[in-house]
Amino acid sequence: MAVGIGIAGAGTVGGTLVRRLMADRAMVTARTGLDLEVRRVVVRDLTKERAFSLPPGMVTADVMDLVTDDSVDLVVEVMGGLEPAGTLVLAALQAGKPVVTANKELIAARAPQLVAAAAASRVPLLFEAAVGGGIPIIRPLAETLAGEQMSRVMGIVNGTTNFILSAMTEQGWSYRDALAEAQRLEYAEADPSADVSGADAVAKAAILAGLAFGVWVDPARVHREGIERISGEDLAAARRLGYVVKLLAVAERTPAGVVARVHPAMVPLDHPLAAIRGATNAVFLSGAAVGELLFAGPGAGGDPTATAVLGDVIDAARELLSGSQVAPRIAFGVGEVAAFDEVETRWCLRLEVEDSPGVLARIAAAFGDAGVSLRSVWQDGRGDRATLLLVTHRAPERAQRAALAGLVVLDVVVEVASTIRVEGDG
Ligand SMILES: NC(=O)c1ccc[n+]([C@@H]2O[C@H](COP(=O)([O-])OP(=O)(O)OC[C@H]3O[C@@H](n4cnc5c(N)ncnc54)[C@H](OP(=O)(O)O)[C@@H]3O)[C@@H](O)[C@H]2O)c1
Repeated sequence: MAVGIGIAGAGTVGGTLVRRLMADRAMVTARTGLDLEVRRVVVRDLTKERAFSLPPGMVTADVMDLVTDDSVDLVVEVMGGLEPAGTLVLAALQAGKPVVTANKELIAARAPQLVAAAAASRVPLLFEAAVGGGIPIIRPLAETLAGEQMSRVMGIVNGTTNFILSAMTEQGWSYRDALAEAQRLEYAEADPSADVSGADAVAKAAILAGLAFGVWVDPARVHREGIERISGEDLAAARRLGYVVKLLAVAERTPAGVVARVHPAMVPLDHPLAAIRGATNAVFLSGAAVGELLFAGPGAGGDPTATAVLGDVIDAARELLSGSQVAPRIAFGVGEVAAFDEVETRWCLRLEVEDSPGVLARIAAAFGDAGVSLRSVWQDGRGDRATLLLVTHRAPERAQRAALAGLVVLDVVVEVASTIRVEGDG
């Protein structure tokens, strides 16, 4: 018996998915025993040329067609955005149809409601493509590692920003030139703000935190800093100290609860994430029993992402045909979300200071007063001025910020040129 697939969205991901479901139908049947048939595709603009051809009437413009059409057994949402995607996904789940989505924004914003609707209808809600595109990371976290005590998740989950930072580091390009090249290669959109501000990575950090720790983290509670202010001097400073700068999504368990954050970070050159260059994505997991795991690969693109979506479609179709009353694969609500202030971080500060006797002692005292100790100091004197690179030991964020407040008022500190956290280094 064929499983009827309805797909909302036929752009980069959806268009590729439709084409592959049609072209690879026999292959999928041979490998899985499932016959997957595209029965309806919903798009916004019915006049647009598509890379596939379907019989007239099969392509429509109303997403609710996927819920009301009885020939659609399984709904794929690959159009993006909160609405009408959210209404469609909820209605499909309530109608007892399994849903596969690639929509990180929707899952991050409404996971508790959607997961509950899936559980109530006992149908799967799968979203492997929502984080890391073609990298299998959701299923490993939700299923393979369900019995593991995870301690930390650290990811490079935005290819655009990793491309920009890699080009600045390796080619010596300015931020502006690297962004222009990313746009030329279509890694970055004309309006790159969602990527460079860290907003895209926030949704993924929230999802990773939810899966790793069983706690839903509202994206509004994920601390966010983008890469817009990273300069060539910051990258040179990182290199001098043996680090490379990456935009990281970090989720971890602290004594006060789970904390998720997105910000640029210095990563040691010998850390596995330091080797992730260009538009590649990677997620580095630390667990009490399993140790360290690295998942890496293409984080976007029509084909890699469609592969992840297709895997979910096969999985959901299998469950549908087996008639099993599936238990939800994820559940939230087994812990607290803590404030960003609670997390312990290490900072690297780049300072311009007066080069005179006693300056270092006064700077060290400002850190000491805030309860932050210094791990290393690198100094480059140039007559009456000097550049200092200070790396701290771990201390709560609020203490690091108090130390910074104590520094900026010192008359010997000309400028705090930048502060970048250090991750993956003890
Ligand atoms: N692109 C990637 O590499 C990638 C990777 C991972 C996850 N994702 C996620 O996958 C989803 C789709 O991304 P995409 O890059 O494929 O987007 P896209 O190229 O912009 O395609 C969006 C599709 O949805 C349709 N659509 C949008 N609003 C609609 C509405 N109100 N009613 C009916 N159809 C509507 C569009 O129709 P028209 O064609 O008529 O405009 C288009 O076919 C997003 O959630 C994204 O975050 C994408």
